[in-house]
Amino acid sequence: MQSLLNKKIILGISGGIAAYKTPELARQLMQEGASIQVVMTEAATQFVTPVTMQALTGNPVYLSQWDSTIPNNMAHIELSRSADAIVIAPASADLMAKLSLGLADDLLSTLCLARDCSLLLAPAMNKQMWEHAATQRSVERLNKDGVTLLGPASGFQACGEVGMGRMLEPYEIAEQVIAFFQKKTLAGKKVLITAGPTFEAIDPVRGITNHSSGKMGFAIARAAVEAGAQVHLIAGPCDLPTPLEATGKITRSNVRSAKEMYAATLNVSDCDIFFAVAAVADWGIAKPAKEKIKRQGKAAPSIEFIANPDILLDVAKTVKMKGGKPYPYCVGFAAESTDLEAHATEKRLRKGIPMVVGNIGPETFGSDLNQLLVIDESGSKKITKAEKLQLARQLIQLVAKKI
Ligand code: C5P
Repeated sequence: MQSLLNKKIILGISGGIAAYKTPELARQLMQEGASIQVVMTEAATQFVTPVTMQALTGNPVYLSQWDSTIPNNMAHIELSRSADAIVIAPASADLMAKLSLGLADDLLSTLCLARDCSLLLAPAMNKQMWEHAATQRSVERLNKDGVTLLGPASGFQACGEVGMGRMLEPYEIAEQVIAFFQKKTLAGKKVLITAGPTFEAIDPVRGITNHSSGKMGFAIARAAVEAGAQVHLIAGPCDLPTPLEATGKITRSNVRSAKEMYAATLNVSDCDIFFAVAAVADWGIAKPAKEKIKRQGKAAPSIEFIANPDILLDVAKTVKMKGGKPYPYCVGFAAESTDLEAHATEKRLRKGIPMVVGNIGPETFGSDLNQLLVIDESGSKKITKAEKLQLARQLIQLVAKKI
């Protein structure tokens, strides 16, 4: 699935060492289906060459407002006319100051002033430059003008210092550009999600877990942030990166056992939607051993299980009515080996929740693909096989309508 199909993006580059990452950004945006038109400032050519950008994007690179190859000789108008967005990475302190004042003394700044599309900037500069009152004034003015700032992040800088002003990584910028184009159906809403497996310790080195990869829950977290929600993701042990972390719109709590997941979830005081995607162990170990259990001849130890608390059931018990709708709106998940529809329907009624989503098909665990069966008060509806992110986006739109 390509998330930027048919999108035309002007990729602006200004003069900063972070420009060495811009070719990679261009490649990632193109992989998502965007067509890229690069415009560079004179200073940017000191860090990355127009030839590099032209070879990667397959389009001529524009540098000057006096470029006579543009048919009507008005590059600033001509280029921005057909664009869906202008993304500038890196955006230097100088360029940000210029744009915040409406100055237009080269092609890139003129293009920004003449645009009728959105402008997204990925700032990159030394930490003193970022913290300078003048730059912060630029940030304030740009925010007021509706310009979207992507980052910056804090971290190691080319000048040897550590601090705020580092450009986001190309994948983080691409993720945020993709998010920018998604419908904001959950703007202002709070979403709580459990994801991944749980791990029930037998002793310090052994335990019981399951095949859940966390991919579906993390895809829902990403789709919810894309839709404008503030997300709290409670993740069992899985190796996945936090989606859209740099937006500051997602909080992640890592937990191990079902009990820890229960405590972390019930600790979140309020949310508009609760997605219980985690494959929570139904049973924990009654008395996990403090030391590694040693082999004793051929005798196998017997392990006593105890029932774990049902997180979804207990969250569902806290539901109140708000404006005639359940708050939070609870969505459960079901992975079954037989009779999915019957089991999922039974789950919905037993837990007293408005929606259960069944994972169809045997290859769900660990796969990037899935197929869903959505069951609510009106019956069941199939969402055909697709990438988990695509399914998550569809599910978010469905739930957004419910609340
Ligand atoms: O039938 P079961 O209780 O396993 O239903 C699965 C649904 O309940 C999933 O949404 C799962 O995240 C949730 N669940 C839970 N806590 C448990 C067991 C399941 O939240 N202890």
